[in-house]
Amino acid sequence: MRFVLGVVVAVGLLGCGGPEEQGVDAVESIGQEIVGGVEARPGAHPWNVSLQQYGSHFCGASLIRVSATKEESDIVVTAAHCVYDGTARLTASAGVHDLNRPGAGAQTVNGVKTVYHPAYNPRTTMNDIAVVKLEKPLKFSATVQPILLPLPGEVVPDNVEATVAGWGLTRENGQPSSVLLQVGVPTIGHEDLRAMYSKAGIAIDRYAMLGAGYRTGGKDACQGDSGGPLFLPGAQGKPVLQGIVSFGIGCARAGMPGVYTRVSNYIPWINTQVRLLSDTARQ
Ligand code: ARG
Repeated sequence: MRFVLGVVVAVGLLGCGGPEEQGVDAVESIGQEIVGGVEARPGAHPWNVSLQQYGSHFCGASLIRVSATKEESDIVVTAAHCVYDGTARLTASAGVHDLNRPGAGAQTVNGVKTVYHPAYNPRTTMNDIAVVKLEKPLKFSATVQPILLPLPGEVVPDNVEATVAGWGLTRENGQPSSVLLQVGVPTIGHEDLRAMYSKAGIAIDRYAMLGAGYRTGGKDACQGDSGGPLFLPGAQGKPVLQGIVSFGIGCARAGMPGVYTRVSNYIPWINTQVRLLSDTARQ
């Protein structure tokens, strides 16, 4: 259901569809997966979680650590627009590569509570972040691991390669992927991103949003990748969750990079939610 919302958001708010068929052809000739990506090595992104309703994938999410010592967690981070219109029968699947063939390493648990950011604005897509508390913790394993959060206010350099991974559409108006796909996209400075989106009448907030993509298009997240992670290697070389797939105009269009929630802006909020929601964090 939420997946439909994502498409509606893209069509309604961000004007995908319509007389843009040339854009689609241009994308088609460049790439064919996440958009323009490749199949992830199974287990390469063990924090990538599939949020599902009635057994069908609608958004991504990322498993985060809730305790320094416990090797399990009952909290995932996603986009507010993924859960904004309700989360009946939400389940979270971790340790999965092919959604059609979850292997022995897969763990699926029910969501029991979702909290989206109190200042999330569906009209502007500001503060597009939410947490989901799971009914029982996901146990860390070879296929299930948390991703590190950035430091509060940590700045992501411009023009460095970030990775986005998800099960979303492999091209604008295309089909979702049953296997986890990934693509590398360079980060884009605030002024450049702001200038690109101002042409479309969309405001970009320096603190709440982070852009990543190629000026020429061809590689991007797409519908169904929403809520999933954009990550960069941190100080110790380990991946850090710097972005959450939030929105774009179409997918992989030239001059229209993907827009991500800037996670470093929300660390105190995330930590507060973890404290309030997680059973595992307290023990
Ligand atoms: N809002 C979309 C969703 O619900 C994700 C859009 C990401 N688009 C992009 N071109 N990067 O799945």
